[in-house]
This record gives sequence, C-alpha cells and structure tokens, in this order.
Amino acid sequence: MRRSVITATGSYLPKRILTNDELSQMVDTTDEWIVARSGIKQRHIAADGELTSDLATHAAKAALEMAGLKADDIDLIVLATATPDETFPATATVVQKNLGMTGGFAFDIQAVCTGFLYALATADNFVKSGQANRALVIGAETFSRILDWEDRTTCVLFADGAGAIVLEAEDGAGTSDDRGILTSHLHSDGDKHDLLYVDGGPSSTQTTGYLRMEGREVFRHAVNNLASVVHEALDATGLTTDDIDWLVPHQANKRIIDGTGRKLKLDPEKVVLTVDKHGNTSAASVPLALDEAVRDGRVKRGDLLLLEAMGGGFTWGSALVRW
Ligand code: ACO
Repeated sequence: MRRSVITATGSYLPKRILTNDELSQMVDTTDEWIVARSGIKQRHIAADGELTSDLATHAAKAALEMAGLKADDIDLIVLATATPDETFPATATVVQKNLGMTGGFAFDIQAVCTGFLYALATADNFVKSGQANRALVIGAETFSRILDWEDRTTCVLFADGAGAIVLEAEDGAGTSDDRGILTSHLHSDGDKHDLLYVDGGPSSTQTTGYLRMEGREVFRHAVNNLASVVHEALDATGLTTDDIDWLVPHQANKRIIDGTGRKLKLDPEKVVLTVDKHGNTSAASVPLALDEAVRDGRVKRGDLLLLEAMGGGFTWGSALVRW
C-alpha cells in the first residue's frame, strides 16, 4: 500500500513578539485575564510588508533543508491559509516562485484553523493516488492583518506564523504499524457561520474585513467536536488513546486543549503545547507545534501522533500519523 510519510518539518515565526503587558496598553485587558482564559503569554506579529507567503517560504525552506531536498524535488504545494497575500492568485504559487520551483502544481486551501488538517488530507490523497510523489504542506497566517485591534475579545488570542512539512511516498503493509498518515477525518458545518467569521470579502463588501467571534459558543462546540473526531480516527484504525504518544492539537486555547485531553483521558505530559508562546496562529499552529516537538527530540521514529483542529465554518478534523 502506498503511504505518504512526513519526512521533515520546518517553521517560522516573525521576529516581533507582542506580550500581554503590551496588549494591556492597547485595549482594556490584563496579563492575568489573558493567561487565565487562554494560556497565552505572548505572540509573534509580522513586520510591515512581511507577507503570509514570506512566512510560508521560510518554513518551507527549513523543511526542505531537514529533508535534504531541493525545491524541484517537490511536485505539489498545498498551502492552508485564511490570510492570503492577495485575493488571487493562490499564495501557494507565490511560495512556488520564491522557492525557485519550476514544475509541479500549487494551490491554497481555506478551512481557517482546520486548514492544515484539510491540506494534509488533500496532499495525502494526491500522494496515495500516485498523482504526486513529494509534497510540501504548509500552514501560514498573518492573522494580525484581520484583527480588530480595538476588540479585546479577539485581538488578544490570534497571531502570525508558519509551519511546513514534507510528505513523501513510501510503501507500507497497510497496517497501523506503517509509517505515515494512517487515517484522516474532516468535517464542516456551515450552519455555525455566525459564531466565527470575517465580516468582509471580495464578493460581499470588497474589503478585507475583521474577525468576529462568539467565544463562549465556539469554546463549547470545540471540545465536543474535537473529542468526537479524535475517537473517529482511533476507531478507523483500531487504535486506542493508550497508543497515542503525542497529541499535537490546534493551539487555540489552553483550556480547549486541556478539556479535550481530559475527555480523552490522555496524560497531559503527552500533549504538545505552544499556545503560551505562539497564541492562535490558525492554520499554522499544528505544523508549528509539530516542528518544535520534532526538533527538540520529543517525537521519535515509530511514535504515534494525533493531530486535531477546529475552526471557522465550522470546520474540524483529525489525523493519525506514525512518525
Ligand atoms: N480582557 C479582559 N476582559 C475581557 C476580555 C479581555 N481580553 N475579553 C472579554 N472580556 C470580558 C468580557 O467582556 C466579559 O465581561 P462581562 O462579564 O462584564 O460581560 C468577561 O470577560 C467574560 O467574557 P466571556 O467571553 O464570557 O469569557 P470566556 O470565559 O468565555 O473567555 C474566550 C473568552 C477566551 C474567548 C473563550 O470563550 C474561548 O476561549 N473561546 C474559544 C475561542 C477560540 O479559541 N477561538 C479560536 C478559533 S476557533 C478554534 O480555534 C477552536
């Protein structure tokens, strides 16, 4: 059976760090409130003129370097973002040019905070079907550009960053002992649009718009949807929570991550947490967290990783990956 195996990771965070104390000079908030409600202590913000494609290109280069590959070894780029450089063309094609990649094909995926899971599942299917051999899957965001910096209920939560992985085709036995993406599960529910959306766009207002959120409602749905999509992945492979070596969750909010972990009865030591340093970087958060855990040696060959995310739409998804 043809599998797609993650052979490398990379990430990039803009230099500028914005602390909670600095935010409390901008809106009516405190470090204590932000930490208690979200677990976030600081976040990175892109510099003027630094675009989503720039962040994505840095992350992609780091992943290519770890894989020992050149840009032309890649035949597919799938980039998840809700903050593209321009309405069109796809930011993935800008990254293709920045990397100096002369062949293959590149496109964007829009599933907000679940974007990386959607991109991973899409690239996995291209690789498994034989339509691509080596793919770059990227999550990259400049959420600072769609935040209402006067709205304290949202501007303290979101941030900028990028993460990337290289997926390569490899033969497996078709069992859950194989390396690679073992299973992926995606969902959406358009009925929940009003709980989390951006109030602008090319077709509706001809403006970019700002992020709007009913935080408490999002929270309630997040824990339930995430626990259920995790069980779906385990049931599909015959694995159990005990088999999971690392949970690499979307880094929206420490309380959502803790709540999901408790529902799954998962040892908190097995959860990769970066939300304290990165904030919610939407589609970038899962590959950013994965890259950190790979590079600091926590994730080892043969480990079973559970990736999950939930975001606007609503969208939500999970994937089980053998490292
Ligand atoms: N600083 C100080 N006070 C604040 C702030 C702030 N930054 N923001 C809101 N408040 C106030 C509110 O005005 C409210 O005051 P009131 O009681 O006088 O009306 C009070 O704090 C409580 O507000 P709630 O919204 O009820 O606070 P809650 O405990 O629900 O926490 C939060 C808010 C952190 C947004 C929470 O609901 C949450 O985490 N939701 C999930 C949102 C999320 O993570 N979204 C990410 C995208 S989706 C995803 O990735 C899963």
